[in-house]
Amino acid sequence: MMDIVLTGFMGSGKTTIGPLLAQELRLPFFDLDVQIVQLTGCSIVELFEDGENYFRQKEQEVLQKVIKQPGVLALGGGTPTRPSNRELLRHSGAQIILLEAQIQTIWQRLQQTQVQRPLVQTKDQLVALKKQRQKNYQQVANLCVQTDNYTPQQVVKQIAEQV
Ligand code: S3P
Repeated sequence: MMDIVLTGFMGSGKTTIGPLLAQELRLPFFDLDVQIVQLTGCSIVELFEDGENYFRQKEQEVLQKVIKQPGVLALGGGTPTRPSNRELLRHSGAQIILLEAQIQTIWQRLQQTQVQRPLVQTKDQLVALKKQRQKNYQQVANLCVQTDNYTPQQVVKQIAEQV
């Protein structure tokens, strides 16, 4: 079963921290979005074209498979919004780490990447969606790490000392 799962909003650092943490702990790294693309043969944007529900269904199916592997897994920002995913995560035995960042930090990070996030086009959408999801992240996480003002290496060190 998966050893460590990283959760948190888009732009909280999951995809940056994940591979570095896996390397530090000598474990394989999995990114849920990458697994979804590989297993469905469609891009995230294409899957969203059939509606968020369709994407969530695929996401859930892939999570059920990948959670059985040992390693470090970076979730998508919306994965814990589904109650069945929260249940699966809570019973997985993995340490679930919430990466936190302030709105301004997240907004800057989202502007800097080429990755398309269909659900967040404006800062107002970001504020509303983050607020709506905060409870879901806290429901699954065993540990919370602030990433603002720290380098990825510092964040990895902080996590590695606590797992
Ligand atoms: C989503 C976050 C994305 C990706 C999809 C939906 C979300 O992952 O799964 O665009 O609902 O927050 P990242 O958190 O890796 O950007």
